Amino acid sequence: MTRPARAGAPSIDSARDAALGAMDRAYAPYSQFRVGAALVSADGAVFTGCNVENSAYPAGICAERSALAAAVAGGAREFSLLVIASEADDPTPPCGMCRQALVEFAPRLAIVSYTKHGTKAEWSLAALLPHPFTPAALTHHQ
Ligand code: THU
Repeated sequence: MTRPARAGAPSIDSARDAALGAMDRAYAPYSQFRVGAALVSADGAVFTGCNVENSAYPAGICAERSALAAAVAGGAREFSLLVIASEADDPTPPCGMCRQALVEFAPRLAIVSYTKHGTKAEWSLAALLPHPFTPAALTHHQ
């Protein structure tokens, strides 16, 4: 986790650099598809994650959920921005499972995705997951 030198939100460039750095550290020997993520909390802290694959394939984890786990372990539960970096030709959006994991904490999350060549795409999580299952959906009466 890194905090900006001054109070306030980190620049998009510093979050992108954090995501690219995490991408470089990804463990993806099976897919050869390295992904990094930088999740920016409401108070401006940046938590990074990368995909960590496993020889038992389903045991692997995506960069975005890896960043989310680091952030929650670090005490953050509100997030404004997710920056993704990947080696794909086109900017990658988060997978469906990561969208679901993220909406639990940040239904209004902004997402920016970069390729390592600098191509960029932007979405809102709400646009990527328009009818989310949220904690409120668990409400029921016996
Ligand atoms: N992956 C991510 O880490 N994030 C994404 O947004 C898409 C996919 C990982 C999972 C797996 O390690 C590899 O990329 C190929 O699917």
